[in-house]
Amino acid sequence: MEVPYHIAVIMDGNGRWARKRMLPRVVGHRQGAKRVKEILREAKRIGVGALTIFAFSTENWNRPKKEIEFIFSYLVKFLKSYQKEFIKKDIKFKAIGRRDRFSKEVIEEIKKTEDFTKDNKSFIFNVALDYGGKWDIVNATKKIAKKCITNSISDKDIDEELFNKHMSLGDIPAPDLLIRTSGEKRISNFLIWDLAYSEFYFTPIFWPEFDKEHLHKAIKSYSQRNRRFGAVQ
Ligand code: FPP
Repeated sequence: MEVPYHIAVIMDGNGRWARKRMLPRVVGHRQGAKRVKEILREAKRIGVGALTIFAFSTENWNRPKKEIEFIFSYLVKFLKSYQKEFIKKDIKFKAIGRRDRFSKEVIEEIKKTEDFTKDNKSFIFNVALDYGGKWDIVNATKKIAKKCITNSISDKDIDEELFNKHMSLGDIPAPDLLIRTSGEKRISNFLIWDLAYSEFYFTPIFWPEFDKEHLHKAIKSYSQRNRRFGAVQ
């Protein structure tokens, strides 16, 4: 079975999973975070090289303040509890997205985790936080424009490769497979540039129920696809 190198995940349905059980939404996020660990471990074990998860979008600030606080306090806890494993398993952690709207504690924990995993090579784990695909494209454009203004590059140097380098995911290969849980069939402003040629897998399962067997199922579906990248076979 062909295992994708890079998997991207829109972890949807935490709230609905909790509501179905008459539990507060935050319990869904807690269970969702446990699944993140399970999926990360399993992905690495079976030979996936990179995992990028959508944990908080630029639009998620419209949620109740308490829920936002919970997600970020849980993120800090998650990072603290996982740092040893990142080192032991040679996992490189990176947060992608805006940073200017986080608390000092969140920024520091992210930075710390990124710094001491920056040379790790066996697996790349990206967490999209205050991330939007449109923001990413605008941000890359700004960086390129600045370089043009200061003459460190000219407009003739701008091509897809250079643009890619200025996007959040940078040089790592684009996702081969996008998984979205909870039955929604949208991209929701996730990695809109990087998903240009990815295979999409949608499942009605809510994220807190998405276990390693579901991951295997998604990969099996992927391995049966015929990727032509616009060419004929
Ligand atoms: C989507 O479900 C979930 C989120 C937007 C938050 C995801 C956050 C976590 C899993 C916890 C913290 C992250 C890490 C990396 C530990 P939803 O709330 O949109 O569900 P709904 O559509 O059913 O309401």
